[in-house]
Amino acid sequence: MTVDFQNCFSFILLLCFFSLLCHSLFSKKLKDQKVGYALPPSPPSLPIIGHLHHLLSSLAHKSLQKLSSKYGPLLYLRIFNFPLVLVSSASAAYEIFKAHDLNISSRDNPPIDEPLLIGSSVFVGAPYGDYWKFMKKLLVTKLLGPQALERSRGVRADELERFYTSLLDKAMKKQSVEICKEATKLIINSICQMSMGRSFSEESGEAERVRGLVTELDGLTKKVLLVNILRWPLEKLGISLFKKEIMYVSDNFDEILERVLVEHEEKLDKQKGNDLMDALLEAYADENSEHKITRNHIKSMFVELFLGGTDTSAQTIQWTMAEITNNPNILKRLREEIDSVVGKTRLIQETDLPKLPYLEYVVKEGLRLHPPLPLVVRTFQRSCEIKGFYVPEKTTLVVNTYAVMRDPISWEDPEEFKPERFLLGKEDERRALKHIAFGSGRRGCPGSNLASIFIGTVIGTMVQCFDWRIKGDKVEMDEAGGLNLTMAHPLKLTPIPRTKPLIF
Ligand code: HEM
Repeated sequence: MTVDFQNCFSFILLLCFFSLLCHSLFSKKLKDQKVGYALPPSPPSLPIIGHLHHLLSSLAHKSLQKLSSKYGPLLYLRIFNFPLVLVSSASAAYEIFKAHDLNISSRDNPPIDEPLLIGSSVFVGAPYGDYWKFMKKLLVTKLLGPQALERSRGVRADELERFYTSLLDKAMKKQSVEICKEATKLIINSICQMSMGRSFSEESGEAERVRGLVTELDGLTKKVLLVNILRWPLEKLGISLFKKEIMYVSDNFDEILERVLVEHEEKLDKQKGNDLMDALLEAYADENSEHKITRNHIKSMFVELFLGGTDTSAQTIQWTMAEITNNPNILKRLREEIDSVVGKTRLIQETDLPKLPYLEYVVKEGLRLHPPLPLVVRTFQRSCEIKGFYVPEKTTLVVNTYAVMRDPISWEDPEEFKPERFLLGKEDERRALKHIAFGSGRRGCPGSNLASIFIGTVIGTMVQCFDWRIKGDKVEMDEAGGLNLTMAHPLKLTPIPRTKPLIF
């Protein structure tokens, strides 16, 4: 008898893998049944991979939205044998964020290797504990809290003037502007100046290199999510996903940030500084620091600030400007408000924003229809009950903010861009959780105030100072694939000055 050893080996391997899955599936079921009440409803799934194909689809938020509109706003999904609860309505989101906030305040990303992104030194993926609390305190006091934002107002005003001058230059040359690219420059420069007291040099090509890495980082987000979900089963089989791409971006950032750290340390030897990088370096050097941190902790924090802060705000600016361009009545009303409060002889400033409520509604509506992070991911630390269903411990929570903010039960004409909907006055708390572009609770976005300033002042400048020409009649609003919500056809507009050149 001849034996094909290769086939035989593959068969045994497959059998082992399958029995491992069956075993854990079976034992999980027993554990769940013990509690005596039901898991949330679960839509039909595929053998072995479960509902993985929905996450792999090019527009995962839309695929999941379709699933929830068919099977309900609270669903129990399975990725191989890993449980996941999907939330797609304001009332389920309200219950989870209000009654279970502490339970879901971790994103249990088990650390692999040492990349700055998704490695053991991350902040965004850190469990809720002493390290996260220590870093969050520094992040708020040194960069993102109200007092820190007041201290850094001048930096953002300078960057806004630079942005205006660049648009004016393009207008004079009758060139079109790639809105997202131009906004990204302003945001990266502002965040760098605010957090490390310097921006990257355009002349040496360093700035372009950092922008390129941020774009690559952004393209990696879907892969990072998959790594986090599939890490355990694939690690068991000795497969490491996307490691090469993740390490490439991580190593490049490492080199750039190490240089900036050394520069900062040399400066700190001469005089004490007060920005986020100074504070982190102080904690790194201090043996008695409240929490001992490493150089990788510092670098990871900056990589995550670039990732979390840049593309999110730039994409929102692009989508909102596209909506305004397609809705001339909204543009007219917005312009009337800005002209009456700011006039035409000086540039809008962030201190004008509280006097521009319509601009605020336009920004909110842009975020509602086009949340740059449509899926918010957390982990249930303990088992609990949600809307009468049992959720086992260590279940991954995915809140589909895209679906929540387009839910016809909570929103009238959910697919339409209607900033006026926010005119109706203060919403009560339950209704406010319909708008969750920044997430919610302890792990909600700490950069929401800064993001609102970026988006408000940039949109304000574009509307106040220029008319905009598009190619064709309407901007195409298709979404590109990926986990971040980006435009399939990046917005390109040609500016025409509508004020006399502003002097600073
Ligand atoms: C339009 C702009 C932005 C949007 C829509 C956005 C959205 C989000 C969302 C949905 C989360 C997860 C929240 C949750 O789990 O509940 C998050 C987390 C985070 N965001 Fe933002 N963000 C924006 C801008 C910014 C900016 C400007 C910064 C800082 C410069 C920033 C820093 C962070 C950080 C550090 C986290 C992780 C917080 C933690 O894990 O504790 N974001 N953001």
